[in-house]
This record gives sequence, C-alpha cells and structure tokens, in this order.
Amino acid sequence: MIEATNLSKRYGRHLAVRDISFSVARGEIVGFLGPNGAGKTTTLRMLTGYLPPSGGSARIADFDIFRQSIEARKRIGYMPENVPLYDDMRVREYLSFRARIKGLSNGDARRRVSHVIDTCGLEGVRRKMIKTLSKGFRQRVGLADALVHQPDLLILDEPTNGLDPIQIRQIRELIKHLSLNHTVLISTHILSEVEMIANRVIIIDGGKIKAAETPSNLISEMRTAGRVQVELQAASEVVLPILSDLPKVKKVAAEDLEDGWIRCTLWSDSGTDTRQAISAVAAHNSWSLRSLFRHEATLEDVFVELTRKD
Ligand SMILES: Nc1ncnc2c1ncn2[C@@H]1O[C@H](COP(=O)(O)OP(=O)(O)OP(=O)(O)O)[C@@H](O)[C@H]1O
Ligand SMILES: [Mg+2]
Repeated sequence: MIEATNLSKRYGRHLAVRDISFSVARGEIVGFLGPNGAGKTTTLRMLTGYLPPSGGSARIADFDIFRQSIEARKRIGYMPENVPLYDDMRVREYLSFRARIKGLSNGDARRRVSHVIDTCGLEGVRRKMIKTLSKGFRQRVGLADALVHQPDLLILDEPTNGLDPIQIRQIRELIKHLSLNHTVLISTHILSEVEMIANRVIIIDGGKIKAAETPSNLISEMRTAGRVQVELQAASEVVLPILSDLPKVKKVAAEDLEDGWIRCTLWSDSGTDTRQAISAVAAHNSWSLRSLFRHEATLEDVFVELTRKD
C-alpha cells in the first residue's frame, strides 16, 4: 500500500529525513513513532504529496505520489498534525465542501458525508459552527474529512494530540474500528495506544529509521535487558559487592526497607537473566529472600532505548 524508497528531505542545511525506505502492506496498522523533531510529520507530508522530497520516491497503491498524484491521493485519507478547519462553517457544510473539493459528485458527497458523520459520531454537532467545537470534536471532523472520499489508506498524524483521556479512548476506538477495513499509518506519542492497535511499529529518530518490527518482537528483544529486583534480609554493605560481582551485572542499587530487609535492583546486559544466580548467592550466603522478579519491558522501554541521546 505504501512503498517509500530512499526518501530524504532537506530544509535549507538541515537534513530532516535521511534516505529512509519502508513499506506498509495492505491491511496493516503501523505505528510511526519517534521523539519530537524526528521527522515524522515531514515523512507523512511527503507520503501524502504535500511536500516534495529532496530525494527518493514514494508509491501509494502503486501510484507514484508525485507523478500520478491525483490517482495516488484518491487512495489516501490524511489527517494532518494541525487539522485546518474553516471555523465559520458548520460541520456538515464543511464536510460537503471538502467532499466536493475531493471530486465527489453532489449525490456521492451527500451520501458519504452522512456516512462519515455517522461513523465519526458527529450526528449531534452536524449543524454547529466549527469554531464552537471542543478539541475532540474538531479531531473527529478532521477524521471525517480524511474518510469522506472513501480512501483505502489512512495517514494520521497524532490524531489524539491534546485530547483528554476519555476522548483519547474514543478516538482510539474509532481508529480501531476503521482499521478493520483500512490500512493505517499513525503517528503518535502514546505508546500504550500503539501497543494496543498496531501490528507493526516504525521508529524514526534524527530522520533515520531505528526499527521496523512488530511490537511484541521489539519488546521480546528487550525483555531480558530489563531490571531484576530482589528483596533480601541482609546488610547492604555485604550484599552489594557480591551482587555486583555476578556475571553480566552492570549496576546494582540498594534501598533499606523495614526490619533489616533491603531491596536491590540489578541492571544487566541484554540476553541475560540474573534471577537464578541471585537466588543461588542468596542461598549460599544464607540471606532470607522474599521476592525476586524481573520487570517486563514495554514498548516505552524500547522507544527510550532506541532513541536516547547518551
Ligand atoms: N518547514 C520547515 N522548515 C525548516 N525546518 C523544518 C520545517 N518543518 C520541520 N522542520 C525541522 O525538521 C525536523 C523534523 O520535523 P518534523 O516536524 O518532521 O518532526 P516530527 O517527528 O513530526 O516531530 P513532532 O513529534 O514534534 O511532531 C525538525 O528538526 C524540524 O525543526
Ligand atoms: Mg510532527
């Protein structure tokens, strides 16, 4: 559905997107993640034909987005980062106007507008002026606009940005519902959202792709790089050097709890699980042990690991 090949974008001397290639198959829901300034919006604008690339090319449903832009754009429903809405239009009027701009006939426009008003839960506000809508409803109008010409592909740039938790949940449910019959490329900073809805994530940082994987594969690659926590009844001066000496352990910290118990946190290399070694030294030194567990990594851990600057 999307085939990006060696896409680059230069703003003056700044290379915002650096020679990236990726594809999105029909039916996939792909989360497009990256820290602020990573190049997400720039990439999405190139994919949707709003911004010419400095290098490379992109195909949407096998149409070149620049050379066959009319055909390609028919297939794309794009919800930009800041949805540009005409404040002085009423919701239904605005969507009809957008449908006509996108080339729908009067009859088709009428049918499709009614349909997207229904899909996006805009029934109650269809006669309201856009300027009177709350942020969540404005986002829904943006989504309705993206859907009105019945595109196969949805490209959504932070659709839940600035919404309250209830509205985030509602928009997420809506996107989940839309994903049943659309291909979706969605940029967001809400990683739990991506874990819930995406089949695959692409992580971009500094204009380069850092990973393109299923969330579960990314997490399982990280899983053993996590932390292990253990609660022991022993003096930390004795425990710390012994735990620090265990193979693969990079760092150990301890905090005092009640009645002589301490809680130690151990960080280790990826691909290792230090729990067995810890229980063995505890037994060997006759320390009482009451809890031992490994923190499971989340997509957030993966994101931080892949994009941190140190
Ligand atoms: N029109 C522009 N002119 C100059 N530089 C720009 C322009 N648009 C974006 N940039 C720069 O390009 C880089 C990528 O920006 P982009 O908006 O694509 O990031 P993003 O990943 O969408 O970030 P965010 O999470 O904040 O939305 C940034 O360094 C940004 O400052
Ligand atoms: Mg952006």
